[in-house]
Amino acid sequence: MQILQGKKILLGISGGIAAYKTPELVRRLKDQGADVRVVMTEGAKAFITPLTLQAVSANAVSDSLLDTQAELAMGHIELAKWADFILIAPATADIIAKIAAGMASDLLTTLCLATAAPIAIAPAMNQQMWHNRATQNNINTLTSWGYTVFGPGAGEQACGDVGLGRMLEVDELVTLTCQEFTQPIQKTQEKEQAKPLAGQQWLITAGPTREAIDPVRYISNHSSGKMGFAIATAAQELGANVTIISGPVNLTTPEFCQKIAVNSAIEMHQQATTLAENADIFVACAAVADYRLDTIANEKIKKSHDTMRLNLIKNPDIVADVAAMTNKPFTVGFAAETQDVEHYARGKLARKNLDMIAANNVATSGQGFNSDDNALTVYTANDEKVLPLTNKAELAKQLVQFIQDNYQNSLKS
Ligand code: C5P
Repeated sequence: MQILQGKKILLGISGGIAAYKTPELVRRLKDQGADVRVVMTEGAKAFITPLTLQAVSANAVSDSLLDTQAELAMGHIELAKWADFILIAPATADIIAKIAAGMASDLLTTLCLATAAPIAIAPAMNQQMWHNRATQNNINTLTSWGYTVFGPGAGEQACGDVGLGRMLEVDELVTLTCQEFTQPIQKTQEKEQAKPLAGQQWLITAGPTREAIDPVRYISNHSSGKMGFAIATAAQELGANVTIISGPVNLTTPEFCQKIAVNSAIEMHQQATTLAENADIFVACAAVADYRLDTIANEKIKKSHDTMRLNLIKNPDIVADVAAMTNKPFTVGFAAETQDVEHYARGKLARKNLDMIAANNVATSGQGFNSDDNALTVYTANDEKVLPLTNKAELAKQLVQFIQDNYQNSLKS
């Protein structure tokens, strides 16, 4: 049976080397019974000719928004209405960015705005470009709008790099296109379940801060950053765009998250208060040093005296300052306590104007600082949830879910 019998598929081709595979893609889609029309960007025509695609599709190829003859034959709105399904393959970083920005600067981007048909994109680009935060943000934006992303695949790339970013093979693209017609309801449900945080901006502080004494010495603490990084991973996996502002840690940055490396509390404060302007959720997981040196020595301090005094001044409270912003994000703090956990945690919740605080008892061995496991009790103004001892990855998933539930409730009220 031809699964695409009578289906009208508009194939958008943008300017990537994988464009050379598109004549074969057109033929395989037609083998499944589809009527295929091709739209090419200017860049695509540098890789493959419209004549080739006209020959294999048996339809005129469209490549211009402003061509009077083409508009007479089938105008862009007509073409947008004609399509049952739009597949953009290869989809370059550039075309993805333009669509995510809502641009209508050429025929293909205009069609994406003008169509009511489902759209799938098959990214094709260098692995570094694929991992770039800009591209990932754009992909998250598109998936949150209901676009489907086919791939990309991993492997050797035209530029010699190895990694994610290859356009899927033609037969995989045909199979996935067929599935869009055979399993549309199931796919919609899968998409909704898969990415509940799509479109959300999460900002997370993590790790310790270092307060310089002189060019070679500093004051710091034992925070490993593991909890903050685990929260970043959990939020990213649920579709959030995640930025971590991290003090010095020995951890690999989670995939698709952006890390901003800082040293001191002042640097972390400056980054957090700037980036929080655009954040939906702020999670202050960092163990920020409470005090810093009032003056940092320019030269290494000599041990010429038997005793010495360091003059410390208080650091700004980052989470409290974010929570005091006019358009404050949903703000989550942490409290590491050795006694009377609920009393102190609730005190900080109120004093710092937080929406939520996650408290752990650091007096209990095997959890908290530098450990792989942790247990938390999470408080909001009128709720409380115990997250029992488990590894930080699992705990982070439970915490992210609890944050998401409360964040969604806060939007309703
Ligand atoms: O007051 P305390 O340090 O116990 O509060 C802990 C919480 O406040 C954590 O969320 C921590 O990241 C945050 N904090 C901060 N800036 C500071 C001190 C703490 O953001 N200067």
